[in-house]
Amino acid sequence: MQTKLLPADEAGIEQAAALLRAGQAVAIPTETVYGLAANACDEAAVQRIFAAKGRPQDNPLIAHIASMDMLHELAAEVPPEALRLAEAFWPGPLTLVLKSAGRVAAGVSAGLDTVGIRFPANEAAQSVIRAAGFPLAAPSANRSGSPSPTTAAHVMADLEGRIPLVLDGGPAPVGVESTVLSLVHGPLLLRPGFVTKEELEEELGIPVLLSDALHAPLQEGEQPHSPGMKYIHYAPRARLTLVEASPEAFAAYAKSRAGEGVWAMCFTDENIADMPYITYGDADDAASQAAALFAALRELDEKGAQTVYVRAPGRQGVGLAVYNRLLRAAGFRLVQL
Ligand code: TXA
Ligand code: MG
Repeated sequence: MQTKLLPADEAGIEQAAALLRAGQAVAIPTETVYGLAANACDEAAVQRIFAAKGRPQDNPLIAHIASMDMLHELAAEVPPEALRLAEAFWPGPLTLVLKSAGRVAAGVSAGLDTVGIRFPANEAAQSVIRAAGFPLAAPSANRSGSPSPTTAAHVMADLEGRIPLVLDGGPAPVGVESTVLSLVHGPLLLRPGFVTKEELEEELGIPVLLSDALHAPLQEGEQPHSPGMKYIHYAPRARLTLVEASPEAFAAYAKSRAGEGVWAMCFTDENIADMPYITYGDADDAASQAAALFAALRELDEKGAQTVYVRAPGRQGVGLAVYNRLLRAAGFRLVQL
């Protein structure tokens, strides 16, 4: 299959909507990462997403909406907390897990009685949903297991020849996937993102619990609330180790392990001598780290890095999302100095 790459303008949006109405899967920009979209209510269309990504069938998909009417169609119940969070954070990088009304295709909920719903802020994404006329299931538009795509070029690198169209809306400004919050099990944070735990707690006025699966590998036989949590994610080919240390201690640690194919990954303006390194944002600006993270992981693979020591970000605010993605990319290998 030939993959067209079109700008996310009126003509591109119309072509994307036409393909979606014909049951195809197409890649679209969102403010978080690029998504691989298909009609959320059409099982055959949804199966094209799983096929193109090579995604496990038991990992549910987020349904993307462009109106509050769509929310009420997809959810069996919309509790007051959901409306409150929608008011505060939608359109934007927050996914709410709610009881499903059974309208989405079986593959979207992956056997659960819940559905993850997000109203994206990206205008092209909203226009595609409106022009298609139905909610779009859209996981990140990468091959399963590899880092999420934050540019159309990343999508092409992973999915060229496997889907008919990629809409190019420029680099995704947020850079990490949406915050996933279950309102069925608590308020329970299933995946940290740009909307932070602190912001959610402030809005809800009650504590938000962190899913156990966030920072530890699942034990044998353990069932996660969010099936996506059991898979290694975001991983480059290189073997990553996350290192919690001051800039100086990190530089010394990385240098002591320098050698063929060994790289360091740290923040802007940090001093790494005698070994190759790349940076991912500023040490004191988690949003800049989020925006740079996935492109940096892809760049390490392009440069042929085999072993990478990554200076760990702080865990406050958006930092928790960056930390969580890196810990998974590192297969939970963490060194604390
Ligand atoms: O920012 C994003 O959310 C991007 C863009 C494209 O919108 N999409 C995205 O989708 O990251 P995906 O499929 O890569 O991640 C969806 C996550 C997975 O961890 C999945 O397990 C969880 O959300 N999820 C989806 N529906 C769920 C449900 N009903 N219950 C629990 N977890 C759910
Ligand atoms: Mg993904």
